[in-house]
This record gives sequence, structure tokens and C-alpha cells, in this order.
Amino acid sequence: MSTRAWFSTLIYSERLQPTGLARLDEELAEECHRIRDHDAAGRRWSSKQYPGGFTSYASMAQLHRMSSTFAALEKKLRVHVRRFARQLDLELRGRKVFMTDCWVNIMPENAAHSLHLHPLSFISGTYYVRTPPGCSGLKFEDPRLDRFMAAPPRRADARPGNRQFVTYPAEAGQVILFESWLRHEVTANPANDERISVSFNYNWS
Ligand code: NI
Repeated sequence: MSTRAWFSTLIYSERLQPTGLARLDEELAEECHRIRDHDAAGRRWSSKQYPGGFTSYASMAQLHRMSSTFAALEKKLRVHVRRFARQLDLELRGRKVFMTDCWVNIMPENAAHSLHLHPLSFISGTYYVRTPPGCSGLKFEDPRLDRFMAAPPRRADARPGNRQFVTYPAEAGQVILFESWLRHEVTANPANDERISVSFNYNWS
């Protein structure tokens, strides 16, 4: 083969653990609602920056340090982050990897989260707590999209590695990890029930 793929963009998707998540998800959903009820600053911020939904991103983003439930989630996520870092061939021997931010997102019907990336971290991701049937997934775009200005469009049946967008379905119990510079969005939630997720950032030293 004389043509090879280089400069890959990896996206990790795995169950948090094979079984036994019902109780954790139940506790997380309950705490997410409690946080929304208590976090007036977050509700104010969300009404402007996260229309129709609630996120504690700007107000309570250290939940792994404040709640034993979120700390338990962090412990399980760490294993996946290390595995993903190995797949990326990152040199982490003698270095520490740690969660810097952890926040909740509650998206009722029609709530959307426009295209963004996660500054000040190297691996980011989301854990899905509650995902009603048909709710929006997580849509990623090719990070080189702005450099294709003179290229013909991609074929509808382009091979996965040549596609310019990919949407991962949101499924309760699933962890999705990506490098923090990779832009992504959640399109308007068509399901008439709340989609609940926990997002997070990891950094290293
Ligand atoms: Ni995000």
C-alpha cells in the first residue's frame, strides 16, 4: 500500500463498566437535579449561554471535589482516560494525569449546545447519565475543515476516516473521550425528555 493515513483524530467510546451502573446513574441523576435546584448562579448563566437547558460549567465545575458520587465517577473515568492516552501514544511516565473540571448538563427537549472546544486541558469527555430514546448525540467535526476550501465535497459514502462529521449517539452508561481541541456540538434535543450528562476535563503535570 503506497498511501497511508497520518495525523489521526481519535475518539474513544466505551461503557464506563460492563455492568452494575444503574445505582450510580440513579444517584448521579438525582444529584444533577439537586445541583440545578441549588445553583442559582448556574441557572442565571445557563439562561443566557445555554438556552433551554442547565449547565453548571460556569458556576460549579469541580463536582469531583465536592461530592462522593462524582468522586466515584472520577475514579472510574480515570481508567478510561489512561487507556485513551496510551492509544494516543502520549508520554505520561513520571507524569500525573488529573481531572480539573467536572460539571453537569441537563438538556430538555429542544435544548442545544453549539460548536465549542475545551480550553486548558488535553483530554475531555462526557459520561451519559440519562438518555431518553431519540435524544441528540455528540457531533464532532474534522479539525481541518477550514483548510478544505478548494476541495470538492466528500462522497456521501466516504470511508469513516475521510468523513468530515461524525455523530456518536448518547447512551446512558457510555463514556466518550476526545482530545480537548476537537470541536463538537449537541444539536437541539428532539426527545421530549431530559438528556443528562456529566462533562469533564483532564490535564497533566
Ligand atoms: Ni463539550
